[in-house]
Amino acid sequence: MPGKNKAMEVLLSRTSTDRLDAPAPKGSVLMQILSTSLRAPDHGRMRPWRFITVAGKHRAAFAELLVAAMRRTDPEVKSAKLEKKRARYAEVPMTIILGMDLHPNAKIPVDEQVMAVAAGAMNVLNALHAEGFGGMWVSGAFQNDEIFREKLGLTRHQKIAGFLQVGTVEGRASETKRPDIDLYHARWKGDPVAFGADK
Ligand SMILES: Cc1cc2nc3c(=O)[nH]c(=O)nc-3n(C[C@H](O)[C@H](O)[C@H](O)COP(=O)(O)O)c2cc1C
Repeated sequence: MPGKNKAMEVLLSRTSTDRLDAPAPKGSVLMQILSTSLRAPDHGRMRPWRFITVAGKHRAAFAELLVAAMRRTDPEVKSAKLEKKRARYAEVPMTIILGMDLHPNAKIPVDEQVMAVAAGAMNVLNALHAEGFGGMWVSGAFQNDEIFREKLGLTRHQKIAGFLQVGTVEGRASETKRPDIDLYHARWKGDPVAFGADK
C-alpha cells in the first residue's frame, strides 16, 4: 500500500526484477544513485563500499571473466549454464559489482563491515527505483574466485557481496506479494516474544 509521501511510496513499492532493458542510469544520475550508499549506517566509518560499474561495450569482456571464474570454481559446470550466464551479463544494461573493503583485524567486526555494504546496496536499489530504474541483487560462488577479483582490480582485502543487475524495467515489474508485517513484529512486554512467522 502506498505511503503518505513520495519516499515511503518508493520504499513500499520496490521490487526486484531481472527483466531489464536499456537504458541504465549514467553520468550524474548514476553518481547520485551510488551516493545513497554513503547514507548507510557504517560503524567506525570504515567506508567499506567499493562499486565497480560495467556497461556498454565492456559487458562482453566482463561476461568472459565471469564465465572463466565459474569454470575455475566448478570445473564440472555445464556449458549450457555458462552460456546462459555469459549471455545474461553481456546483455543486461549495467552490472554494479558490490565490492567490500573488509578489515578482519579492525576494531569493528567484519560482520558489521559487511552489513554496512549491504545497507548501502539496499539504498542503491531503492534509489534506482526512485529514479525509474530497476535492479536485482544476484550472486554466485564464482564471486569468491581470487583471479576474478584480481582482474577486476580488487585487492586481497576486497571481497564481492554480489552484483546488482541494472536497467529499465521491461513493461511493469510483476508485484511479488509481501507477507503481513505482523508476522515479523512482536511487542516486548517483559516476557519472551513469539513471532507469527515462527508458528
Ligand atoms: C546477497 C544476496 C544475493 C542474492 N543472490 C541471488 C541470486 O543469485 N539469484 C536470485 O535469483 N536472487 C538472488 N537474490 C534475491 C534477489 O535479489 C531478490 O531479492 C529476490 O528475487 C526477491 O525479490 P524482491 O527483492 O522483490 O523481494 C539475492 C539477494 C541477496 C540479498
